[in-house]
Amino acid sequence: MQAPTLLEPVQVHINLAERSYPICIGAGLLGAASTYQHLPPASTALIVSNTTVAPLYAAQLQAALQARYSKVLLITLPDGEAHKDWPTLQLIFDALLGNGCDRKTVLFALGGGVVGDMTGFAAASYMRGVPFVQVPTTLLAQVDSSVGGKTAINHPLGKNMIGAFYQPQLVVCDLDALKTLPPRELSAGLAEIIKYGPIADMPFLDWIESSLDALVARDPVALAHAVQRSCEIKAWVVGQDERETGVRAILNFGHTFGHAIESGLGYGQWLHGEGVGCGMVMAAHLSQRLGLVEKSFVERLAQLVARAGLPVKGPILAVQDNAGRYLELMRIDKKSEAGEIRFVLIDGPGRAVVRAAPDALVREVIDACCA
Ligand code: NAD
Ligand code: GLY
Repeated sequence: MQAPTLLEPVQVHINLAERSYPICIGAGLLGAASTYQHLPPASTALIVSNTTVAPLYAAQLQAALQARYSKVLLITLPDGEAHKDWPTLQLIFDALLGNGCDRKTVLFALGGGVVGDMTGFAAASYMRGVPFVQVPTTLLAQVDSSVGGKTAINHPLGKNMIGAFYQPQLVVCDLDALKTLPPRELSAGLAEIIKYGPIADMPFLDWIESSLDALVARDPVALAHAVQRSCEIKAWVVGQDERETGVRAILNFGHTFGHAIESGLGYGQWLHGEGVGCGMVMAAHLSQRLGLVEKSFVERLAQLVARAGLPVKGPILAVQDNAGRYLELMRIDKKSEAGEIRFVLIDGPGRAVVRAAPDALVREVIDACCA
């Protein structure tokens, strides 16, 4: 695959008729007033961030937005997946109502996927819907969660179980923000980038393999290409199936096992990207046992996931009947139908399929893949 050599700002478009919007990718975008010049007019902007990201980037964003809004408010949420819940969501509504925000108020999600998903859900429901902008500051959020309009909070019984489809007006991927990201979070983002290869684009997988060292070293040109290509693939899928009635489900490759790990261990123990990385390897093993891919493909994927600094062995979730516990957790999945788990599997390199698998085979995979 031809990779770019210069770091020029680019735009990727999500085409969804009247809900279409651009994803702007580049360095130094977050603090530039011109980034926001085409947003709908309003008197008030509310930046939603968290205790880690706000001290790093809120002042820049606030200064840029002051050129456009007479009131720029900031709410700082507690940080972490464990806070992707009702009480934290309520803090956003408290800020909106407490400040007399009207239905034109624009919400800005400044942070990773947790802030983005919660801000999007708040925007979807405040006064039955106000505009919002995603300003993702993690690699994972830039390549996946800020794009496509899935918003949600967790329930103790299941991940992202309460939410809405609600598209932002604009996504601003500022590559400079990735400079302060902890290495473990960078690896988590690499999981979602790797995901796009096996499900849709094998040349991109080849490129990731050959560019992994550059990505881990945060080479800006490599990161720019990874974010752009990931967003292009996601835009192509979401443009065909906004509300996941069909093809969009392939974007959940690795997520069925991964969500079980996240909720089974307690939210925040494993990062979302770590669950996805390991979950992709488990789903690839299942694909192989169903005769859909060669063993060599599973080994290739596992090797790449490990090189990205991600776990390839699942954790033990129960001392007795570990596989039974995984199965129990995986049944609480939005893809399940009438209690039957539906997995995203690889049906030959570069092609995904969504289908059920016999419990006995799934148990074999879990037993072989957990340590
Ligand atoms: P996160 O939001 O918890 O962010 C990871 C950590 O990095 C946090 O501690 C955060 O404060 C910190 N951080 C963020 N930006 C930083 C920066 N620039 N410098 C330093 N620290 C920074 O996690 P995430 O991986 O971004 O997102 C995971 C969430 O996204 C999960 O809840 C997952 O369910 C969701 N998700 C949603 C979608 C979707 O389509 N809506 C897709 C994938 C994942
Ligand atoms: N991250 C999966 C999706 O957006 O559909």
